[in-house]
Amino acid sequence: MIKICVVGAGYVGLTTSAALAEFGNEVQCVDIEQSKINMLNQGLIPIYEPGLGELIQKNVQQGKLHFSFDVKDSIKNNSIILIAVGTPPKEDGSSDLSYINNIVDTIVSTIQDYKIVITKSTVPPGTNEWIHQIFLDMGIDETMFDIVSNPEFLREGMALWDIFHPNKIVFGTKTNRPIKVLKKLYEGGRAPLIFTSLTGAEMIKYASNAFLATKISFANEIARICDAYNVEYLDVAKGLGTDSRIGRHFLNAGLGFGGSCLPKDLSSLKHSALRKNVDTKLLDAVLEVNDSQIELYLKKLNTLLPDLAGKKITVWGVTFKPNTDDLRFSPSIALINELINKGARVHTYDPIVQLQLPSTCSHTDQYESISNSDALIIATEWEQFCDSNWADVKSRMSRSIILDARNCLDGETIRKNGLVYLGVGKQ
Ligand code: UDX
Repeated sequence: MIKICVVGAGYVGLTTSAALAEFGNEVQCVDIEQSKINMLNQGLIPIYEPGLGELIQKNVQQGKLHFSFDVKDSIKNNSIILIAVGTPPKEDGSSDLSYINNIVDTIVSTIQDYKIVITKSTVPPGTNEWIHQIFLDMGIDETMFDIVSNPEFLREGMALWDIFHPNKIVFGTKTNRPIKVLKKLYEGGRAPLIFTSLTGAEMIKYASNAFLATKISFANEIARICDAYNVEYLDVAKGLGTDSRIGRHFLNAGLGFGGSCLPKDLSSLKHSALRKNVDTKLLDAVLEVNDSQIELYLKKLNTLLPDLAGKKITVWGVTFKPNTDDLRFSPSIALINELINKGARVHTYDPIVQLQLPSTCSHTDQYESISNSDALIIATEWEQFCDSNWADVKSRMSRSIILDARNCLDGETIRKNGLVYLGVGKQ
């Protein structure tokens, strides 16, 4: 049984801790936020992630998972330290590495025996080399430590599936010394292991997210062209997706990508490229298309409601995608803000989140939220929205406009119920 300290009880730290414990390791997950650790020690989970609570509870009961706010003590007492702290975006788009900095300082100031330091947080190319250099600069001998870059590829809402069915596990190392321990640590993971340099692993992570974002912006641009030619985009996506060189994943057109990873990682990668004078025309275009999706859908709505001032608009779904409570960089929130700017009276409903946004009214009942609404916008594709009772919807709304901003509804069914269906790239 390998003993490991995971630093950070956020989204990545918690899911990784639970999975490593499930793989048979003994995990101590630490965080400076005492209230968070108190919650976890009372069996409460600070984030919404399907199945995570049960997995944590099981491993805590089996004595394989512990929580503590004594970060320094845990770092001192464990020879393997996995860093899973946040690297939020700075104003200029680069990554804020101050949390990483703090942990590295703690490790170098307490190190007494050999340590393997694994960076799980998403960090810009060159960061792990820089961490290695800090150890050397502090006079720590190379025999005393190994730095490993081990990025995560978890999707929120699907994190447990992804962690137990990974398509790869990536390790960036400088020497072969930590490899045996790393293989043992992820023994339960059963996925191809990819070994590369420290910066190589960092680039795999950024390139993956940049490629996924590119697919989405590509899909959105194609959907616009389909819209102009009255072509059903979903047919095109299906046709594209059957080619295994392309694949159907991440070709869903809609409001665009949000969340804590794709927008931030793209901006950070762009920043890293510019620092080395590398041009990023493609990344710029991907972000540009994404940023203009809100306007595109508002224009669609304007075809039937030219003036939004005073209109009651209901938005279903406020998170950046379904099955999460995460509002970070949510395209739905950006849309809501635009609606407010245009003078609309915005009402919202979300299956998990009660949105606390000035000038909006949040509802706990899906159907109550649409009473007397002029238009209903589906901003995230929760299954319960796609399976709505459209006759009931029709009876409650004042005007019956449904704007499908996630391409997830069956337009035919909506129309049969006397509602007006609007979408981009929908016949
Ligand atoms: C992403 C990566 O998928 C994951 O590998 C990485 O580790 C973290 O970043 P996540 O941010 O949880 O995961 O969400 P993801 O499922 O990738 O969706 C990102 C955004 O893209 C969402 O806003 C989603 O609605 C949007 N999206 C996704 C589309 O608009 N179309 C699609 O086809 C897929």
